[in-house]
Amino acid sequence: MSKDTLSITDNRTGKNYEVPIEHGTIKALDLRQIKVAADDFGLMTYDPAFMNTASCQSRVTFIDGERGILNYRGYPIEQLAEKSTYLETAYLVLNGELPTRAQHEDWVHNVTYHTMIHENVKELMGAFRYDAHPMGMLVSTVGALSTFYPGAKDIHDPLARRHQVYRLIGKIPTLAAFAYRHSVGMPYAYPDNDLSYCGNFLNMMFRMTETKYKVNPVLERALEVLFILHADHEQNCSTSAMRGVGSSGVDPYSAAAAAIAALYGPLHGGANEQVLRMLREIGSKDKVPAFIREVKESGGDVRLMGFGHRVYKNYDPRAKIIKKMADEVFEVTGRNPLLEIALELERIALEDEYFLKRKLYPNVDFYSGLIYQAMKFPVDMFPVLFAIGRMSGWLAQWQEMIEDKDQKIARPRQVYLGAPRRDYVAVEKRMAREAALTVA
Ligand code: ACO
Repeated sequence: MSKDTLSITDNRTGKNYEVPIEHGTIKALDLRQIKVAADDFGLMTYDPAFMNTASCQSRVTFIDGERGILNYRGYPIEQLAEKSTYLETAYLVLNGELPTRAQHEDWVHNVTYHTMIHENVKELMGAFRYDAHPMGMLVSTVGALSTFYPGAKDIHDPLARRHQVYRLIGKIPTLAAFAYRHSVGMPYAYPDNDLSYCGNFLNMMFRMTETKYKVNPVLERALEVLFILHADHEQNCSTSAMRGVGSSGVDPYSAAAAAIAALYGPLHGGANEQVLRMLREIGSKDKVPAFIREVKESGGDVRLMGFGHRVYKNYDPRAKIIKKMADEVFEVTGRNPLLEIALELERIALEDEYFLKRKLYPNVDFYSGLIYQAMKFPVDMFPVLFAIGRMSGWLAQWQEMIEDKDQKIARPRQVYLGAPRRDYVAVEKRMAREAALTVA
C-alpha cells in the first residue's frame, strides 16, 4: 500500500524530506522546513495568479474543468437550471441543502422584505453623472450600505450575518435597477413584493407608467436560469476578492463592494460586455475569418472575448445551457442579429488549431450578452446582472471563510528582487550626480 506522502530531496544540501499529501495537496508551510542554513527562511512556492494553489477547503462548488462539470453543493448545474429557481438555488448555495417548503417560504419572505433601500442611498445615486457606468455605481452603493447597517461589523454573530445576507441578496437588484434608471434619467421604480425575485427586477428596470408591471414569464424564467448559472463558481477572481478582503474582518458590504470591483474587469464579469462590443465591431458574418486571423496573429493582444477559461478546458457547461435557452428568448424578443456572427465565430474557432491546441471554448459570457441584449438590457448592465446572480456565491464563500478555523487574514508572500539595503542620498548629491552623468 502506497503512503500518502511526498519525498523531496534538496539537491543543494542532499537532505531528504517527507511531507504529507491530503486531498491531493501538500501544505505550502511544510516546505518551510527545507533550508540551506539554520537561519534560512525556508522554501516557499512561487505561484503568481494562483495557477496551482488551493487557498481554502470548500464545500460550496465543484468544478471539473477538463470534463466540463459544475455542481453546486453536489447538484449538477443542468438540473438546477432546469428545475430550480434562483432564490431556491441561492438558499442551497448558502446553506448546503435544498430548503424544505417552510424554509423556502421563510427565505423568500425575508429576501423579498429586504428589497427596499434607504432614501439616502437614492440621493447618493443621484450624485453620479448621467453617463456613470452602473458597475461603478454598484461598487459605491453596495459599499455605502455598510454605513447604514453598523451591526454588520458583527461578523462572528450568525444571526447578524443572516440579516446582512437577506439585505444584500434583497437589495442588489434594487441598486442595480436604480443605477440603470439614473443613467437613462427615468424615475426610480420601487420594488413590487407581489412579484418573484426576477419578475420584480424586470419591474424595477422597465416599468413605465403602468400601475402594475406585467412580467413576461419566458423572460422571467430566462433571468432565473441566468442568475442560477452565475450563482457561484468557486475561487474565481471576485470570490477571492470577497474572501481576501473579508479575511480582514471587515463587514460583508465592504467585502462585496471589493468583489463587485473585481468582477467589473474585462477579463472577468466585464467579458460579457466586451463580447457584445466585439460582435458589433466585427459587424457581419463574412468578416469573422479576418477577425479570427487578427486574434491569432496578435500574440495574445487581441482576444476572442467570451472564449477561454482558467479552469474549463472544455465547453463551459453554463454556455451550453445558455445557448439552448437563447432560442426560447428569441421567440419572444425576436432573433438578435449578432447571433449569426457569434455562431460563425464559434464554428470557425472550434475547428481552428490555435483554439483547439489551447483548449479555448466558449465560456458563460459568450452567449449571455446576446440574451440580455434581446431582453433590452443595455450593454453596460451586463456585468451588473452577473453581480446580482453571484451575490449568493460571494456570501456563501464569505460565511464559509469566517467559520473556517484554518483561515487567517489573507497575506501572500513575495519573492523580493529589488535593490539591496542602501543609504539615503540627499537631493543635492543626487542632482550633482545627475549633472555629472549628463556632462559625461
Ligand atoms: N482569445 C485568444 N487567445 C486566447 C484567449 C482568447 N479568448 N484566451 C486565452 N488565449 C491564449 C493566450 O494568448 C495564451 O496563448 P499563448 O499560450 O500562445 O501565450 C493561451 O491562450 C493561454 O491563455 P492565458 O491568458 O494564459 O490563460 P488564463 O487562464 O490566464 O486566462 C482568461 C483565462 C482570462 C479567461 C482568458 O482565456 C481570456 O482572456 N479570455 C477572454 C476574456 C473572457 O472571456 N473572460 C471571461 C472568463 S469567464 C468569467 O470570468 C465569468
